[in-house]
Amino acid sequence: MAEELIISTSSDKQERYKALIPQIEALVADEPDLIANLSNIAAALKQAMNFFWVGFYLVKENQLVLGPFQGPIACTRINFGKGVCGAAWKERKTIIVPNVDEFPGHIACSSASKSEIVLPAFKDGEVVMVLDVDSDQLNDFDEQDAAALQQVMHIIERFL
Ligand code: SME
Repeated sequence: MAEELIISTSSDKQERYKALIPQIEALVADEPDLIANLSNIAAALKQAMNFFWVGFYLVKENQLVLGPFQGPIACTRINFGKGVCGAAWKERKTIIVPNVDEFPGHIACSSASKSEIVLPAFKDGEVVMVLDVDSDQLNDFDEQDAAALQQVMHIIERFL
């Protein structure tokens, strides 16, 4: 596995995702350990996409519990249906929030977060974790992010 990420400097985020996703595939290809892989994926996303906060919450019993992440410290536990993460778990779908202040029940781990995207990953038909990405800019995520990050979730689902 290459241990250095080649980062596209394109101003087009689609191009940056295109350069990144095959490298994420390679990064996890020979490693079965979940925490090791999620840690490197969070770091690769932070480094290549310069996200304010990016990380995973893992379903443990009846809660989402903080997993590997990059960025400021964050809330450790989120209940089913609560916040954007809990809503993505409950609704079993990707949620894009252009303005977190307008999302009922948004959990503000950092007052600097302005917009957010959360995607669930599935094992045997059940949500087992979510990927959460926060931006300090309003309206920073769109369908391009959803599609690219969905590819990352599919890579993750292979080693769950
Ligand atoms: N804002 C999230 C909580 C997690 S932090 O953003 C890292 C939410 O409402 O679920």
